[in-house]
Amino acid sequence: MDRIRITGGKPLHGKIPISGAKNAALPLMIASLLTEDTLVLDNVPHLADVVQLQRILNNHGVDVTLSGKRSGEAEHAGQTVKISAETIVDTVAPYDLVSKMRASFWVVAPLVARMGQARVSLPGGCAIGTRPVDLLIMALERLGANIEIEAGDVIATAPKGLRGGDIVFPKVTVGGTHVAIMAAVLANGTTVIENAAQEPEVKDVADCLVKMGAKISGAGTSRIVIEGVSKLGPTRHSVLPDRIETGTYAFAVAMTGGDVLLEGARPELLQSALDLLAETGATVTATNEGIRVARNGAGLRPVTVTTEPFPGFPTDLQAQLMALMTRAKGTSRITETIFENRFMHVQELARLGARITLDGQTAMIEGVDRLKGAPVMATDLRASVSLVIAALAAEGETVVNRVYHLDRGFERLEEKLGACGAMVERISG
Ligand code: UD1
Repeated sequence: MDRIRITGGKPLHGKIPISGAKNAALPLMIASLLTEDTLVLDNVPHLADVVQLQRILNNHGVDVTLSGKRSGEAEHAGQTVKISAETIVDTVAPYDLVSKMRASFWVVAPLVARMGQARVSLPGGCAIGTRPVDLLIMALERLGANIEIEAGDVIATAPKGLRGGDIVFPKVTVGGTHVAIMAAVLANGTTVIENAAQEPEVKDVADCLVKMGAKISGAGTSRIVIEGVSKLGPTRHSVLPDRIETGTYAFAVAMTGGDVLLEGARPELLQSALDLLAETGATVTATNEGIRVARNGAGLRPVTVTTEPFPGFPTDLQAQLMALMTRAKGTSRITETIFENRFMHVQELARLGARITLDGQTAMIEGVDRLKGAPVMATDLRASVSLVIAALAAEGETVVNRVYHLDRGFERLEEKLGACGAMVERISG
């Protein structure tokens, strides 16, 4: 298993190109199941989760071809993925494929919408709480699907096709909203989704579906209206920039000090995080090329924040912010409201010298003058990158174990940080 060795203490200077968003690329690839025509996606990040989803689509008989510069090549950019689901040979997504990544469960929606049936194993993914799928199932039922659970699989059937309906989500769910939209675009009649997720990735997928011929209005707001159509056609779409990767590197620069341009980043995708970063004392400037983050020698100010659905502060940046606040001058408070059990990074950060106490869903972070390198363990995708941020400012050497979590969501991390002066290397094996 690969590890990453980081020697801390170097400020970051330079440019970091921001990749396409994992959380948009995955549902966009899944949406390809809705049409027998070819979907071409540009700016798809090179990530383990993308490869895993390719395997899942292949299993349904979908033809997926990837092209573009490889990691490490000059002018490396996101890859172009051509997906053709002309014939779907199998509507079953088995446990060994689905268990590795929670989002793969979402194939249930296009499969039942187009084929009238799907059998998909209940999902796995990051161990950050129970993460049920009851609301995804509720949405499919509201559109007329019959659902049975058998041997850990969800069996969804709609022999005469889905029909439009009203879906009111009792809590905001990104996956639920993706599933509801993908199911509704081919349903007979009108669907109204209330309390929909407003995340930019939901809007990106809806924009692509509209280009394919779907009739969707209101994506990006809490009320989405979909008029079902009988068929979707081909299109080409470029995945929007990854706001979580943007925020992660922005926090890393604030942590080490320095001056970095996050190329291609779009401020409106993470305004709440950028506002918070400015509160800590970092300088954040939007430019034509992206977002510039700088911090000189001044100390970091502590913050108090609660994670919320978009446009609030994202749970996917909670661990990274906590890492940053370990060096603030004073006590910060971070309350996690989206997922229970999303504080697994706390004990690993403590190994580097952080002082954090937990009170239910709130973490109190008392800033310390220095962190010291140590061996640590990546526990989930976002937690693992918080350890990288802490290690960049720690004295001496930190080895992050189990970096396969990082590879699921961060493209060429060591290369991107290394190009800005960080001492980061991957140890294979
Ligand atoms: C997506 C993101 C993930 C992010 C999360 C919240 C992708 C691939 N993943 O995950 O990175 O952290 O949004 O922004 O886009 N819930 C239920 N029942 C359900 C579904 C969800 O109770 O049927 C709960 C969850 O347990 C959680 C909350 O709703 O407490 C939000 O989850 P959701 O937005 O669905 O997260 P994901 O779509 O899995």
